[in-house]
Amino acid sequence: MRVGFKLVICALLAFPHPLYAQLIWDGDAIPNSLSGQPGDPTRGKSIVVSRQTGLCILCHSVPSTEERFQGNLAPDLRISVGNLNAAQLRARLVDASRSQPNTIMPSYYRIDHLHRVAPSFAGKTVLSGQDIEDVVAYLLTIKTP
Ligand code: HEC
Repeated sequence: MRVGFKLVICALLAFPHPLYAQLIWDGDAIPNSLSGQPGDPTRGKSIVVSRQTGLCILCHSVPSTEERFQGNLAPDLRISVGNLNAAQLRARLVDASRSQPNTIMPSYYRIDHLHRVAPSFAGKTVLSGQDIEDVVAYLLTIKTP
C-alpha cells in the first residue's frame, strides 16, 4: 500500500503539468522549447496581432500587418526583436521583467510573483508553452538580417 502510494507520487513528479514546462534558464535565455515542439510562425503571427491572446500590438507596432490602432508604448516589434536569438526571445516572453525589472510588458509564462491576478487566472499562464514557441518562430521571421 505504502509502496503503491510512493509510486503514484513518483509518477506525478515525473510528469509535471504539461501546460507549465519546467523553465531551465541559461543566463538571460531559455534554450529549450517549452512544448518540446518547434513553433509555427503563421500561428505565432495570429497570436501577436490578436487582441484577445497576445495583445502585443497593444504596445508594439508590427511590421507589414494591416491591423489598425497599433500601439506606440513600446518600440516597433522588429526593433524589439533586434538581434535576440530564439532562446533569448523565449525568455523575454516568459518573463520580460527578468531583464527589464520595471517593464510594463506582461510576463506571458509565469505563475509566481504576480500581482493582482484575477482568481480565475491564478495558476495559469497567459500563453501556453506552444503559443510561446509559435510567437518566437514568428518573431524570428521579422528579424532584420
Ligand atoms: C503592455 C505593453 C506591452 C505588451 C502587451 C507587449 N510588450 Fe513587448 N515590450 C514592451 C516594452 C515597453 C518594451 C521595451 C523594453 C522595456 O521597457 O521593457 C518591450 C520589449 C519587447 C522585446 C525586447 C525585449 C528586450 O529585452 O530587448 C520583445 C522581443 C518584445 N517586447 C516582444 C513582445 C511580444 C512578442 C509581445 C506579445 C506576445 C509583447 N512584446 C507584448 C511592452 C509591451
